[in-house]
Amino acid sequence: MCGIVGYIGKRDVAPLLLEGLQRLEYRGYDSAGVVVAGKSGGLKAVKAKGRVRELEARIPKRFAGTTGIAHTRWATHGAPSDENAHPHLDTEGKVAVVHNGIVDNAAELRAKLEADGVVFASETDTEVITHLVARSQAGSLEEKVREALKVIEGTYGIAVMHADFPDRIVVARNGSPVVLGIGEKEMFVASDVAALISHTRQVVTLDDGEMATLKADDFRTYTTSGTRTTATPETVEWEAASYDMGGHDTYMHKEISEQPDAVDRVLRGRIDDKFSTVHLGGLNLDAREARGIRRVKILGCGTSYHAGLIGASLIEGLARIPADSEPASEFRYRNPVVDPDTLYIAVSQSGETYDVLAAVQELKRKGARVLGVVNVVGSAIARETDGGVYVHAGPEVCVVSTKCFTNTVVSFALLALHLGRIRDLSVADGKRIIEGLRRLPEQIQEILAQEEDIAKLAAEYADAKSMMFIGRVRGYPVALEASLKLKEISYIHAEAYPASELKHGPLALIEPAMPTVAIVPDDSLLEKNRAAMEEIKARSGRILAVAHQEQAKADHTIVVPKNEDELDPILMGIPLQLLAYHTALALGRDIDKPRNLAKSVTVE
Ligand code: AGP
Repeated sequence: MCGIVGYIGKRDVAPLLLEGLQRLEYRGYDSAGVVVAGKSGGLKAVKAKGRVRELEARIPKRFAGTTGIAHTRWATHGAPSDENAHPHLDTEGKVAVVHNGIVDNAAELRAKLEADGVVFASETDTEVITHLVARSQAGSLEEKVREALKVIEGTYGIAVMHADFPDRIVVARNGSPVVLGIGEKEMFVASDVAALISHTRQVVTLDDGEMATLKADDFRTYTTSGTRTTATPETVEWEAASYDMGGHDTYMHKEISEQPDAVDRVLRGRIDDKFSTVHLGGLNLDAREARGIRRVKILGCGTSYHAGLIGASLIEGLARIPADSEPASEFRYRNPVVDPDTLYIAVSQSGETYDVLAAVQELKRKGARVLGVVNVVGSAIARETDGGVYVHAGPEVCVVSTKCFTNTVVSFALLALHLGRIRDLSVADGKRIIEGLRRLPEQIQEILAQEEDIAKLAAEYADAKSMMFIGRVRGYPVALEASLKLKEISYIHAEAYPASELKHGPLALIEPAMPTVAIVPDDSLLEKNRAAMEEIKARSGRILAVAHQEQAKADHTIVVPKNEDELDPILMGIPLQLLAYHTALALGRDIDKPRNLAKSVTVE
């Protein structure tokens, strides 16, 4: 889950590539590199361990060119180092490759190449691609790359340059995203539109098994077996400015603050007051089919899996269809029974998460109906599914997902309402949920206004070595998500448990040094949640409650506005995003680029 970017045109390429890498750094940031085709011929490459700024510092004054490719890395094979950074060149320095993905049969290919006398300069899987291209006797660069790809097993988004073919860049996709940017007498390629949107909004998204040749004034696409394909550029929905930090210190703070507008946007044009329901244009599921659904299975990873858990309770609650959510990677490998009456829903912010994409492909192979709840328009999961709901959260750059989590849960509320009103949900209940949805943006604003107080609380709890998060039923996924946020950016160990499970073991962990965050909504389980807080207090545990009213048993309470029981989880998660944010700030963490993580996980 690296970021690749490339350019061919008239402009000086290095500054364009560095700007593109900075915009892709959320995809991986342990090392970076760039290669350009020099004006006097040949390839010039610079690589550096660390951030793009370290690479920039190493770029020599004389590094001009109008064609180049670059890469920012999230290491899978070979620790972060100058040698393992991309691009990887062959011994003669004629071929350069940048790669996002994993070559599964790299060890076997490497052994063969080394037996043939090839000397490797790095520990990476990617370098085998370079040597395979360099050793091909084919007449064109396209042919050389195609020959290499014939023996490669695994996932890739690659860009290739060759000193003998300075007028082109050849790219290919299998499992990792590759987007072409179509400009006026210039072409771009990148893993994500973020790297090219400030230059063009005309893009072509390659499919798996597709390649392209980019020249300054032309591009053409074809399959890895050489058959021409048609590619009509599409206009990207998001503005370049939406990728800027907009005056905030971090993308995370910007994206948390954008939630009232983001929720407003996901509701816009979808509410149907006449029938107290919602209209979801892209679902591709008619009422008869919707009535035939016997079960709903939601699949996602990380935060998207947590959003799926709340989605399942919304669908079961409002549409009375048995529903659950499962980590996509687990689902794939447990050889599940795929049931024709089950509706499968794939959830993903990036729309590129490999485990989710592979689960969708497996389900499709078995004839299942799969919908997508996705943020990135035109992403692989969006294109692979039979229909779905775009969550319209806008670009989410920070590795840690916040606004997209909220918009995904709201999208599930819309889907549950839609299915419910096709089945047995009453007009009154439909109205109740719609009014609740409409109150969300303002209520989120109210919670964001408490930021200063939440920052003070974060400073008070930031010394904890470990934290427990508890909730019941609708509150439990909120606890799971909040503990994930804290883990991701503060590096404080955090566990989430159904409050009812405490006495079955985790209670042993409770002591003054292990604070507990308790999700305590005003619902039918209020007294049960209070009893759990009693148990913790009895063992001198510190408690920070998120509730609709002050909690006597808690050391501190963050009070959030009440909405409908079904929609309360959306609001109760927001203050805990701020808690994680300010805890990480207090600990001096790199909030937008937490260690060891990356925004979209395009490898298994
Ligand atoms: C969330 O903060 C993390 N970045 C991570 O858990 C993420 O939710 C997961 O990798 C799934 O990503 P997706 O939604 O893009 O598929």
